[in-house]
Amino acid sequence: MTVTHGTTRFVILTKRYAIKLPYISFKKYGFTNFLCGLLANINESQYTEIYENEYGVKHLPIIFHIGFGIMNVMRRIEPIKKEDFIKINNSFKQKYGEMATMSNDTSYKNFGWYKGEIYCFDYV
Ligand SMILES: Nc1ncnc2c1ncn2[C@@H]1O[C@H](COP(=O)(O)OP(=O)(O)OP(=O)(O)O)[C@@H](O)[C@H]1O
Ligand SMILES: [Mg+2]
Repeated sequence: MTVTHGTTRFVILTKRYAIKLPYISFKKYGFTNFLCGLLANINESQYTEIYENEYGVKHLPIIFHIGFGIMNVMRRIEPIKKEDFIKINNSFKQKYGEMATMSNDTSYKNFGWYKGEIYCFDYV
């Protein structure tokens, strides 16, 4: 089991699951960030029903959540390597145009592989 985090959420990675909790810190703006983490979990748990974006980029489903943004659970998948993401994103842009985006936040840190397909696991 390992623990990592993004800007607004802690992520506990077990062998099979990624458990996302709002990030708690006592630094400046820590409380605002905590609220953003709750909201990110709430949004994601609702948005999960939209299975892919307008270009067919798949969203990794939330398989379980606790209300009010306390906790979201997804399958743990294999994070994509930066260089692989750059290649995929470049061919995506060639196909759909410069304005097209794979997600609202196109950091490679939000994408991974599952059963040979690319999924976005942070889609809010
Ligand atoms: N389903 C998953 N499988 C594997 N790793 C994951 C998964 N979900 C999240 N992670 C890891 O946890 C990190 C943080 O998760 P996530 O991007 O959802 O948090 P965030 O706080 O919303 O991030 P951001 O800084 O992009 O706003 C990811 O960059 C990734 O390393
Ligand atoms: Mg992220």
